[in-house]
Amino acid sequence: MSSTLINGKFLASIVKEEIKMEIEELKTKGITPCLAVILVGENRASEKYVSLKEKTCKELGIKSLIFRLPDRTEEEEIINLIDELNRNISINGILVQLPLPRHINQNNILQKIEPIKDVDGFTPYCLGRLLIDNPLFIPCTPKGIIRMIDAYEIETEGKRAVVIGRSIIVGKPLSLLLLRRNATVTLCHSKTERLGEITKNADILCVAIGKPNFITADMVKDGAVIIDIGINVTNYGKVVGDVDFDSVKEKASYITPVPGGVGPMTIAMLMENTLYATKVQKGLS
Ligand code: GUN
Repeated sequence: MSSTLINGKFLASIVKEEIKMEIEELKTKGITPCLAVILVGENRASEKYVSLKEKTCKELGIKSLIFRLPDRTEEEEIINLIDELNRNISINGILVQLPLPRHINQNNILQKIEPIKDVDGFTPYCLGRLLIDNPLFIPCTPKGIIRMIDAYEIETEGKRAVVIGRSIIVGKPLSLLLLRRNATVTLCHSKTERLGEITKNADILCVAIGKPNFITADMVKDGAVIIDIGINVTNYGKVVGDVDFDSVKEKASYITPVPGGVGPMTIAMLMENTLYATKVQKGLS
C-alpha cells in the first residue's frame, strides 16, 4: 500500500492567501494587524522559527515587532514588557517564543499575557477555554493539524487516536481537539511502557517527541494516518521528523512529510489567530 501525502505547504499557502486578502481589506479601514514576539536568550531553533514568523508576517501585511532579550534577563523584566504590550492598543498579538531559559518560570510569564492577545493560546485562560469546549485561541500546531485532517476529509469519529508527547504546545491541546472530534484518545509520553503496542493500535498516530525517525514501520498499523510533528536536524544538516518516513509511508494511508507538513500549517495558524485577535479587538468579529 502506498500512502497519500498530506501537503501542509500547499494547504498553508491557500490559508495565507485568504488571510492576505482579508488584511488588504482591513487596511482600507486603516487597520494593520500587529504581532509582538518576545525571544529570550540564544536558541538556534527558536531564532529560526522567529525569523520565519517575521518573514510570513511581512508577506501577509502583518506588522511584526521582535523583542530580543539576553539570556540573563530576569522574569520581572519580561513581565514588565508584557504589561506594556498588553496596554498598547496598536499591538494585537503577543507571543513568547518557547522554550524560555531555565531560570525563568514559564507559567509566571505566560499567565501575564492578556487573553485577547494570546495568539499562541498558551495562557491558562485560553487553555481552560479549550478544556471546557469553548475555545478562544487554539494553539497553532494542534489547530493546523486538525485543519489538515479536515482538508483531507479524514474520519476521526470513533477512531483510535494516539498522541505521543504531552507538552502544552502540542500534545495536550491536540488530545483535547481530537477528543472534540469524537476520537478515542490515548496520550503517551516519555514514561509510557510498551509504546509500540499502543501505537500499533492507532488509526491516527500523532508524534511529537523530538527524536529523529523514532517511529518505525513495525510500530504502525496498516492504513494508519500518520501526523509527524517532529523537526530534527541530523548530523548531516538534513531536516527529518520523528517518523521514519521512507518505511512508514509504505504502511500508512495518509502521512505528513517533514519538512512541508505540519510546520507550514503552524505558521499559517499563527497568522490566522493574529488576524482574528485584531478583528475582535476592533469590534469586527
Ligand atoms: N516553540 C515551539 N513551538 C512553539 C510555538 O508554537 N509557539 C511558541 N511561542 N513557542 C514555540
